[in-house]
Amino acid sequence: MQKRVVAGTAAAMVVAALGMAASGTSSARAGISNLALDTTAPPTTLAALAAAKPVIARHAMVVTDQHLATEVGLGILKEGGNAVDAAVAVGYALAVVNPCCGNIGGGGFMVIHLASGKNVFLDFREKAPLKASPTMYQNAKGEVVPGLSTKSYLSVGVPGTVMGLNAALKRYGTMPLARVMAPAIKLARDGYVLEQGDVNVFDTHVKQFARHPNVAAIFLNHGKPYTAGERLRQPQLAKTLRLIARDGSAAFYRGSIARAIVASSKAHGGILSMKDLADYSVVWDKPVLCEYHGYTIVSDPPPSSGGTTICEILQILAPYPLAKWGYGSVDTLHYLIEAERRAFADRNSELGDPAFVHNPVERLISARHAAALRASILADKATPSSQIKGNLSTQEGTDTTHFSIVDAHGNAVAVTYTINFLFGSDYIAGNTGFFLNDEMDDFTSKPGVPNAFGLVQGTANQIEPGKRPLSSMSPTIVLRGKRLYMVTGSPGGSTIISTTLESFLNVAEFGMNVQQAVNAPRVHEQWYPDQVFVEPGLMTAAVQRRLEEMGYRFKVVQSWGADEAIVVDPKTHLLEGANDRRRPAGLAAGY
Ligand code: GLY
Repeated sequence: MQKRVVAGTAAAMVVAALGMAASGTSSARAGISNLALDTTAPPTTLAALAAAKPVIARHAMVVTDQHLATEVGLGILKEGGNAVDAAVAVGYALAVVNPCCGNIGGGGFMVIHLASGKNVFLDFREKAPLKASPTMYQNAKGEVVPGLSTKSYLSVGVPGTVMGLNAALKRYGTMPLARVMAPAIKLARDGYVLEQGDVNVFDTHVKQFARHPNVAAIFLNHGKPYTAGERLRQPQLAKTLRLIARDGSAAFYRGSIARAIVASSKAHGGILSMKDLADYSVVWDKPVLCEYHGYTIVSDPPPSSGGTTICEILQILAPYPLAKWGYGSVDTLHYLIEAERRAFADRNSELGDPAFVHNPVERLISARHAAALRASILADKATPSSQIKGNLSTQEGTDTTHFSIVDAHGNAVAVTYTINFLFGSDYIAGNTGFFLNDEMDDFTSKPGVPNAFGLVQGTANQIEPGKRPLSSMSPTIVLRGKRLYMVTGSPGGSTIISTTLESFLNVAEFGMNVQQAVNAPRVHEQWYPDQVFVEPGLMTAAVQRRLEEMGYRFKVVQSWGADEAIVVDPKTHLLEGANDRRRPAGLAAGY
């Protein structure tokens, strides 16, 4: 038997010693600072983690990673809108004030829990153009051409956000489209003052902005990078949004916006057609559900891999006493890493767009499958990934955005949407004012050919006309009994799955308040590379040493993800909201 090192991190002990009291009474904006993007946010300190407190509200809560968008959502709720009205308003507002990630040129997923108890899932993921083909990113020799699936017009999938937001509003909202879009239009027309958190994101792309004159005209200030305190106005985007507010989805999919996208695509070697846009549709579906220790996880079915993989990991973990072992302990990390390794191998091989492939979701999240996988975990040793069957997946863009909303009626909405990498493909079509996605990169670029590890990639996620690429986005709602307990989700490509899962485990198993749960250092294992990603502060030196003796190899990454979460206190029913410390421009606010 392995020597047990149960202690976990000093951070965990400090947090435990403080009794995890969730307190705090007002909107506590994480101070806007020189913190950069989530990829460079400094590690949290022990004292900061122990002292982290959520924002508390009695009736309703909005958490997004841009404070102005949070205020838009809160305004809609205070005016009597429900959580779906607010989500649509936030979705459009983030397209203006968080243009790296918030969007109308991409796609995403929405999970809704209605106060009536009904749970629904909306898929507005981008689709491959009708002229797309499995080998479109390969040269005559069958080699993948670098950049073609990320920074060319061939990388652009047919956007779904506009139809998705509008469909959600029509089915479950109460306000007219023009009403919920008005704040976004105003922010685009009148502009907003950039803060350091906003500018840090822009600074990562100054060179790319300069490459396209129509992009430089908006996102550079007379050819120079914007600085904090300056006002960014987006009159072209305001006009695009006004057209959508007036004519609905038709403006985007059949009208002048569609014509501008197709013309620009043609001019730059792309394949998008008017038929691609006119044929676009969203899908209403049932969420993936699973039970874990009295909680019900309500999350995303394919074409997201998120809900299935989170549920598979939780089913593997269910019998282990994580709460007793503690956050950051050897045993918790060992079994969490091994569960993730196995679930990611399944995820990469078996899942794809359900309109094209059969997804064995029931089997993957079954107790029987979990038991079989558990039996292969050694008590005192890491399992080399080479011993687990599966197919490699593509590298995913990490620059998505997530928001969580709960209204005074008890409706909850979780949305994760994306243009894939920061600022998507870097292209804006003509005078439309918004970035187009590079979501096609989420497909497998080279199916059926042995990869560097000698494995053959599966065809479940190969490119086909009209197909949606497999995603890791995991907007998730958790119920306790029948009551709403948590709304959570994050950007981060494949790390979205572990970030979302760990935010839940941190509150449900390790007794953290929701602010501590989203701030706490994370761990991520995705089968390949056979390496465990950790944020600084997750493990003590003793824990790391013991795990290394067991065969684990760690790669310390400064930080990733940005979980924007809400928890409903089961005793007081107060709402506790938390903006991830890794996104200082964000805000949790309620009333
Ligand atoms: N583009 C990242 C994802 O969909 O998971």
